[in-house]
Amino acid sequence: MKAANIFSACLFLLPLASCTQVTDSGRDAVIEQKIEALLSKMTLEEKIGQMNQISSYGNIEDMSGLIKKGEIGSVLNEVDPVRVNALQRVAVEESRLGIPLLMARDVIHGFKTIFPIPLGQAASFDPEVAKDAARIAAIEASSVGIRWTFAPMIDVSRDPRWGRIAESCGEDTYLSSVMGAAMVRGFQGDSLNNPTSIAACAKHFVGYGAAEGGRDYNSTFISERSLRNVYLPPFEAAAKAGAATFMTSFNDNDGVPSTGNKFILKDILRDEWGFDGLVVTDWNSAREMIAHGFAADDKEAAALAVNAGVDMEMVSYTFFKCLPEQVKAGKVKEEVVDEAVRNILRVKFRLGLFDNPYVDEKSPSVMYDESHLAAAKRAAEESAILLKNEGEVLPLKEGVRTVAIVGPMADAPHDQLGTWIFDGEKSHTQTPLSAIKAMYGDRVQVIDEPGLAYSRDKSMAGISKAVSAAQRADVVIAFVGEEAILSGEAHCLADLNLQGAQSELIAALARTGKPLVTVIMAGRQLTIGKEAEASDAVLYSFHPGTMGGPAIADLLFGKAVPSGKTPVTFLQTVGQVPLYYAHNNSGRPASSHFKPLDQVPLEASQTSEGSSSSYMDAGVQPLYPFGYGLSYTTFKYGKPQLSSKKLSSGDVLTVTFTLENTGKYEGTEVAQLYVQDKVASVTRPVKELKRFARVALKPGEKKTVTFELPVSELAFWNIDRVKTVEPGEFALWVAPDSQAGEEVSFQVVD
Ligand code: BGC
Repeated sequence: MKAANIFSACLFLLPLASCTQVTDSGRDAVIEQKIEALLSKMTLEEKIGQMNQISSYGNIEDMSGLIKKGEIGSVLNEVDPVRVNALQRVAVEESRLGIPLLMARDVIHGFKTIFPIPLGQAASFDPEVAKDAARIAAIEASSVGIRWTFAPMIDVSRDPRWGRIAESCGEDTYLSSVMGAAMVRGFQGDSLNNPTSIAACAKHFVGYGAAEGGRDYNSTFISERSLRNVYLPPFEAAAKAGAATFMTSFNDNDGVPSTGNKFILKDILRDEWGFDGLVVTDWNSAREMIAHGFAADDKEAAALAVNAGVDMEMVSYTFFKCLPEQVKAGKVKEEVVDEAVRNILRVKFRLGLFDNPYVDEKSPSVMYDESHLAAAKRAAEESAILLKNEGEVLPLKEGVRTVAIVGPMADAPHDQLGTWIFDGEKSHTQTPLSAIKAMYGDRVQVIDEPGLAYSRDKSMAGISKAVSAAQRADVVIAFVGEEAILSGEAHCLADLNLQGAQSELIAALARTGKPLVTVIMAGRQLTIGKEAEASDAVLYSFHPGTMGGPAIADLLFGKAVPSGKTPVTFLQTVGQVPLYYAHNNSGRPASSHFKPLDQVPLEASQTSEGSSSSYMDAGVQPLYPFGYGLSYTTFKYGKPQLSSKKLSSGDVLTVTFTLENTGKYEGTEVAQLYVQDKVASVTRPVKELKRFARVALKPGEKKTVTFELPVSELAFWNIDRVKTVEPGEFALWVAPDSQAGEEVSFQVVD
């Protein structure tokens, strides 16, 4: 490091403590000097040891032996603070250079206090929800010594067959960018150096959500244009938000596994975005390049990964075993190893691990703090989406005296937590059944008859009892959906209908003629057309976490008002996959005049049914579009006023409109701004979300809402492979969902 590259960021007016010397690439100069000093003392084996991550296992002596030799840089999956400190002590006090370990864990949507799954958080369209959830997860996880989480997962996901859609922020690039960046800020806090901050990891880099056929780990075929326009922006936003680490994805894109993909790891991540944190492989994904047929053996896999820009290997040990020899053989340059080690040490220094390596084993427990539970409840409330409310059956009226609570998800403390809850405990879950009894038991009599034991239960034996409960009640509330294990990693489905005999249960309940409220808890958007049709009201709650019960209870009884919106398109049938709102137009866009298949005349002429891009049996209309969700109240949108109808690429477009609460309840509307580039050098999506805002309004209240949109945000990767705004006509909508709103237009003139 040359002294000339360092300048002082101290302003003479600032107190001394805020002085940080930064290098001309914006890094903390003191940290960079420490990295260089340490690196100069390291043997090749010690360097490669830093690049090795193991998963904790029972035998602490054995692990300690490896750590002492400098063979391990990071340990994942150790959550006992006493063992965390014991391992750390070996690293700091007994290894030759005393480099602390980085302790990691998948803390995805909560540590002990479980928040709604990320797909649910995305339905809130509230970055504060995502940030708070991540902050609280960080506070709880760091209290046992975890300083690195493998989240946020920001894979744009347009296929609900893929089980990992649950972990994502859904189908939209912009929504995923905003929510992902908020999660990064929440996990990392104001400074990584704070003991309650944990390093975030933007994953899975990149394209994993586009797995062919929705089958986990499968190949993807994403063009560079789609990568840049659709899949990369959430990662760029995470990098800008300061994400300390990135994880490579399992998939090969167009033949190149991400773990060996220099184009994404070096050219884009490092050179274009200036990322200087650490890149870790996914679990065993270096070695899996052998199964891909991309590497012949461990030696080649290690060299390919490191040369492509991976810094640390998760669990497969190919680096540690093979890199010394690969360096000696000239297959990997020692400078490449040095760079990887710098990236790892930088994160460790930034986390303050060298100064403060241990966790306080004696500090009072922060788990399930009242404030954490309150935040989890708020998140679950904001995440629930009201899809239907015929005859205003919700909120339940004062006259309702008896409610039948049925269905396998009414009291499923494990399943409502959702996927990826290594540390969540079902003993702390508050289910809808327990919450309704506890919170509203003095107002209504509850008849509790599940009908089915769990979501896949096919036995019809209990259904008649549920029907009899319904007959004795004023209103039936059916809790259906899917168990936690039906979504998440490697849990993909080819059929998205309700499992087991749940459809039969809903049909039988509907036949009683009693008002039927169906609450669905699931890890993905299921195909619920029939059940929605049979129900008077439908409330969709992606697995809502520890406090799902009280949140849903308050929503049903009107103490809270639904405000969530669909972060994914809901399909009529799985055969419509992929169906997402931001699609490009074909030369023959589908008309909305869908004719059921059995109305197609016999021996009709070839073109009688029109020639457009659609399905004869299902059409292309979703069951519910992206961005959709009702409230107990109603909102009226005024016509948007634009600051100008002719803008230059350097301008900021200001869009102003009034939003009025025209109903009886206080409520919050998620107002959305969509834009379409009408004609461009490559075809562009029919609509793209560019802004959204949650607007709270009392009955009769009217507010002026303003969105500011820099014209530069209309840029896309064009025919010349350049990210630019092309002049021309644009359409704009301000709307309650992706299919509504009145079109207004503007022009970009240069
Ligand atoms: C998953 C990652 C996760 C890692 C560590 C992998 O199987 O794909 O998302 O972070 O395991 O548990």
